[in-house]
Amino acid sequence: MLTNRAVIILVIVTIAGFGFVIPSHKPPVKPSNRFTKAQIEHGAYLVKSLGGCSDCHTPSKMTPNGPVPDMDKYLSGFPAVGDTLRIPQGALGSSGWGMLATPDFTSYAGPWGISYAANITPDSATGIGSWTKEMFINCVREGKYWGSGRPLLPPMPWEGLGRMTNGDLTDIYAYLRSIKPISNQVPAPVPPDKAVQH
Ligand code: HEC
Repeated sequence: MLTNRAVIILVIVTIAGFGFVIPSHKPPVKPSNRFTKAQIEHGAYLVKSLGGCSDCHTPSKMTPNGPVPDMDKYLSGFPAVGDTLRIPQGALGSSGWGMLATPDFTSYAGPWGISYAANITPDSATGIGSWTKEMFINCVREGKYWGSGRPLLPPMPWEGLGRMTNGDLTDIYAYLRSIKPISNQVPAPVPPDKAVQH
């Protein structure tokens, strides 16, 4: 005869056993799943309104109505092709222009050399997929590449964006984790002495 206690233990072991054997149908937890729908929606609102991130981080394409963002490349930065463009002699300077941009508005030439808008999609190899929330907040708040590297170059407006609260920046991070990852390796910036055509 099984005692009551033994029956209870048997039931627990059986249930635990089933839990182990029956495969879980839950999808693997993605980093973005740690955030609430409300956080992701608020992040989307900030990115698409005041943040203006897409203006620089999404390549534009020309239409009869002017440039529009190419949504197939949403927030994936300067397309990793044709990064050999250099600044024509004399184009920049006190009697010329202060800044030049490529027609897709993702690459910028100025006294700092040539900068390329970063891939801020959650692709792990070429975007910010491997970034922690802390890296992201530090990057935008301190203007540091990858959160702790070299100073970020213009025209990334981190001085203003970095004034957002931790909560707002967290929500932007949450939203960026939720968008489509795009593989696009953005080249390193070109320093001023190598940026001008000779
Ligand atoms: C006026 C253009 C512009 C706007 C607007 C802009 N960025 Fe940038 N951003 C850039 C450029 C250019 C770079 C590359 C700077 C560099 O290489 O030093 C950059 C770099 C970054 C980086 C650093 C990536 C890395 O690899 O370290 C992050 C993160 C980033 N931007 C996020 C954002 C977010 C989020 C927004 C909107 C809230 C935004 N940016 C708005 C132009 C812009």
